[in-house]
Amino acid sequence: MAKINLNLLKAQVKEEIERAKEIKDLDEIFKKYLGKKGELSQVFRSLRHLNEKERAEVGKEANRIRRFIEEKIKEKTSSLVKASKGKKEWFDVTVPAKKPLLGHLHPLTLIKREIEKIFETMGFEVVEGPLVETEWYNFDALNIPKDHPARDVWDTFWLKNGLLLRTHTSPVQIRYMEKHQPPFKIIAPGRVFRHEATDASHEFDFWQVEGLMVDEDVTVSNFKGIISGFLEKFFNQKIKTRLRPSYFPFTEPSFELDIQCFFCKGKGCSVCKNTGWLEVIPGGMVHPNVFKYAGLNPRNWQGFAFGAGMNRLAMLKYKINDIRLFNSGDLRFLKQF
Ligand code: PHE
Repeated sequence: MAKINLNLLKAQVKEEIERAKEIKDLDEIFKKYLGKKGELSQVFRSLRHLNEKERAEVGKEANRIRRFIEEKIKEKTSSLVKASKGKKEWFDVTVPAKKPLLGHLHPLTLIKREIEKIFETMGFEVVEGPLVETEWYNFDALNIPKDHPARDVWDTFWLKNGLLLRTHTSPVQIRYMEKHQPPFKIIAPGRVFRHEATDASHEFDFWQVEGLMVDEDVTVSNFKGIISGFLEKFFNQKIKTRLRPSYFPFTEPSFELDIQCFFCKGKGCSVCKNTGWLEVIPGGMVHPNVFKYAGLNPRNWQGFAFGAGMNRLAMLKYKINDIRLFNSGDLRFLKQF
């Protein structure tokens, strides 16, 4: 009787092991037959009820089956491990982890910080003003009356409530002078907006950095000296500058500060349009009316102001040929900084 049961048991275990799909199944099979309460373990335990002859016979057979089960489980385990190695979900803990992609700062933010650092070493304070402005701060207080043709220079985004998006950072001059007594030296970097068509050198949303220095006897040579010092640090090389007369309602006299083209060393190239010079910073001496509108007495104070395009400075520094790239969100461009 015992012998038939054992044969049946062997056939059953064999089939179960062959059907097993995971290591976990093999553990179950082991428990079912060879565990403490396992079926084969019970056979061993019942041996003592048999007579000597039977005991020897059944014991021998049971031992053979135990070895058989152990052998089969071992074989199947290694074949399951081998098969799983070929599959995708195989996890190799020794493979180095993938580095997570980290973002970084926008090129204009980097330029802004660099400019701030250079001016701070020259004793300038960094200040800010609102992007949504009143007509007074953006135009009137800067000596640009309502019907003045100069207003056309700044194509304006007007808001429905009569306010506007500032067309330059110059309104920050007025806001600062209203609240502070000279002497002072400030820069005001920030976004400005112009209602105009875009091309490789025009954007409707770009950055400027305004500068203002006021004291009792600030002169044009202070302007030239400070700007030259800034440009040499910014471009990290000797820079030749020149002042050209220009016009702004809020400065008198007004200039364009040019630098000698450092791509061709003044010989003429495509970047400087064969002039040998690059126009980089407009500025001038603060107009007496501007002092008056801001509440300062023009008899007591003199100052210079400038308003540089930060995108343009960045373009020259990094040889970027299209201003629209800054707002494009194009990762191929942004990743280079
Ligand atoms: N605000 C002028 C512009 O946007 C630049 C400027 C600033 C000129 C300060 C002179 C003095 O064009």
